[in-house]
This record gives sequence, structure tokens and C-alpha cells, in this order.
Amino acid sequence: MSEQLTSQINNNVIPNLDYFVEWGGSTWKRQLNYALREFTGIDFAGKKILEIGSRSGKMACLFARLGGTVTGIDINPDFIGNAVAEAINMEVEQRTNFIAYNGDFDIFPDESFDLIFTKSVLVIVPELECFLRQISNKLKPSGKVLFLENAKGGLLHKLRRFRHRTWNYQKAKFFTDKELNLICDIFQVFEIKKTIFPPTYLIMGEKRDKL
Ligand SMILES: C[S@@+](CC[C@H](N)C(=O)[O-])C[C@H]1O[C@@H](n2cnc3c(N)ncnc32)[C@H](O)[C@@H]1O
Repeated sequence: MSEQLTSQINNNVIPNLDYFVEWGGSTWKRQLNYALREFTGIDFAGKKILEIGSRSGKMACLFARLGGTVTGIDINPDFIGNAVAEAINMEVEQRTNFIAYNGDFDIFPDESFDLIFTKSVLVIVPELECFLRQISNKLKPSGKVLFLENAKGGLLHKLRRFRHRTWNYQKAKFFTDKELNLICDIFQVFEIKKTIFPPTYLIMGEKRDKL
């Protein structure tokens, strides 16, 4: 990690973060910057990362550019080719792998990943509890989760709901206390950072010790 990059991130400016975050505006960018600065750190060398719902592959490529080895999965196989092309473009194809997800997390051995990341994905997963428990199994001991998800509220909530319908997703659920409590039951959550406009939750936690 170059000193220049470290200093830029510490100053709240990841180079080209707009490009990697892709959509959602400055709030999403700020949330991610906070998570990288305060929670995960910015040196992912030697870390194995899973991004669920990787779509364009841009966030996966960011983690790879920060040194990680990243697997991106997406339920829509049409997105995989673009993500691979993005990795080639970003010169991180050696440290990225994009896979069409068929609902079976057991393609990965248990305790495979140091970090599991989602952005605007858990809100459209139908069986959230089961999904989260499977994710937990795939984390190494003390492995981290970083979820940046849509919260409920206001006009933007209605616009998002409309947008999700046009993408043919199931009715978008949006996070409420119920989903947050579920995540807190399954993971050791250190911090939940909420924004109001647009409504988002940044959830930072780690795998719980087995009882
Ligand atoms: C709203 S998009 C967000 C994409 C990207 N994370 C972002 O923030 O730009 C949701 C993505 O999750 C994928 N997806 C939805 N359900 C999924 C599931 N159960 N497993 C993996 N990917 C899923 C969709 O195909 C889509 O690419």
C-alpha cells in the first residue's frame, strides 16, 4: 500500500471511490469510506474476501486493488462476464474470481473468508436468516462482515421500491429493526451507522464464537 494511498484514505478520499461505488451518491461513498477507515482497514493483503451480489464487479475490484483475493458471486449469470472484464480492465484478474451463484454456499468450504461484503443485496434475499447463517459458516473465526444496506424511510424508499420492481426483484424488504436484530443475533455487531438521506445502514461485525 503506497503512503499516498494510505494518506488519501485517512483523509476520507479513496481515489476514484465514486467509480467503484458506482451508484447511490455521496452517502454510500461516505459510509464505505468510514468502514474502510474505522473497521476493516485498507490493507487487504493476504485476506480472502467474498462479495455477494457483485454485479458489475467494481467493489470486488476495489478490494482486490487494496490487496485482497476476492470472490464475487451473483445470482444473475449475465453479470459475470462484465465483472470479469472489469477485473481485466483494473488489472486485478489474478486476484478476482466471479461465479454465478446457484443458491448453494457449499461450493465454498466452511471458514473460507476473512471478510464478507454486501451492498444493497440482503434487502432482496428472500430467506434472510438461513442466508445469514450460511454466510456465517463461510467466515473464518473472527472473520468480518460488512453490510451496506438500504433502510426504510421517506420518498427515496418509494423510489427504490419502484426501481427494484423494474429490475424484477421480489418486493424489496428494506432493513428495519427486525432485520437488524436478526443480524445482531447471528453476528457480533460492533457498530451500525445509519444515514437518513438516503436511508442506509452500515453494519460492521464479525463471526460469533461457537457456543
Ligand atoms: C441492487 S443490486 C446491487 C449490486 C451491487 N452490490 C451494487 O451495490 O451496485 C443487487 C445484486 O444482488 C444480486 N443478487 C440478488 N439476490 C442474490 C442472491 N441471493 N445471491 C447473490 N446475488 C444476489 C443481483 O443479481 C444484483 O446484482
